[in-house]
Amino acid sequence: MGPFSFIKHLKEIVLSRPEVSASAADNTLLKILYNRRSIRKFTPKEIPDDVMAAILEAGRLAPCTVNLQTWSFFIFTPEEWKKCIGNPIPFKGNRAVLVCGDINRVKPVLKNMPDCPLFEYTTAVINASLASMNMNLAAEALGVSSIMLSETGKTGYFYADYLQKKLDLPNGVFPLLTLVLGYAKGGYPAMPPKFASEYVTFKNKYKKTPMEVTSDWFDKMTAGYKFTFPLKTFKGQLKTYNEHLVDAEEALKKMVFHYGSSAPEKRDSKGKMKRP
Ligand SMILES: Cc1cc2nc3c(=O)[nH]c(=O)nc-3n(C[C@H](O)[C@H](O)[C@H](O)COP(=O)(O)O)c2cc1C
Repeated sequence: MGPFSFIKHLKEIVLSRPEVSASAADNTLLKILYNRRSIRKFTPKEIPDDVMAAILEAGRLAPCTVNLQTWSFFIFTPEEWKKCIGNPIPFKGNRAVLVCGDINRVKPVLKNMPDCPLFEYTTAVINASLASMNMNLAAEALGVSSIMLSETGKTGYFYADYLQKKLDLPNGVFPLLTLVLGYAKGGYPAMPPKFASEYVTFKNKYKKTPMEVTSDWFDKMTAGYKFTFPLKTFKGQLKTYNEHLVDAEEALKKMVFHYGSSAPEKRDSKGKMKRP
């Protein structure tokens, strides 16, 4: 990408704004939602315990499939994180919450649903993600910023195997992501390129996003990435993800798909549950 396109794409990123309808303009919750950003720079300011408790409570009360609450949260101070993981909390965050999908606790319930092997994994991921988002927004509402991480600094499912050993996770409990929390250092960054509502909202029939729209998004991601991490490239980062994921997926399969009713040895050649 030449310098002219680089600057053009950066300018478009900086100038882009949420599409705010009139009825949303003064709504406190929607302002929080629309202005939220993933934050990658934190001050050393401590998050008070009661603020942390309020954030965690928002996670515990998140909506979830059949009220199964298929999640577990590990809470770390910077010292605890360093001791357990070996690195500082990424971006000098003040607290880290490792969110795991957890089907171990509800195994007796899931035994009643043996014919849908993907259900356990899918619901655990959906539910734990909703809990993460509830915590993320509760934090924003209390003036605490955050970022969800699955890769950076052994924080999530890319390092599931490592975290399983470190944290003594039984089968059926699998790390998904870490919510890093703290008080933002400096202002919030510009909104990264989002697809316009016309490409993600449909009536009746799906419409394919034109290739030039996807390419434009990719170019903006490339420019934004270069601006944030001058020594790296977006394409290079995707390649690194791919390499890490090969191992991570093997570990996850053992932790999840070889557990409970999804275990292949419990299924016949058509994938149906073997009946005794
Ligand atoms: C599940 C999940 C995992 C993520 N993992 C990482 C990560 O490992 N490293 C990172 O820098 N950002 C990570 N992010 C942050 C995304 O890059 C960010 O949400 C996205 O670029 C959109 O930016 P925004 O949150 O400011 O809207 C993650 C976000 C989510 C939801």
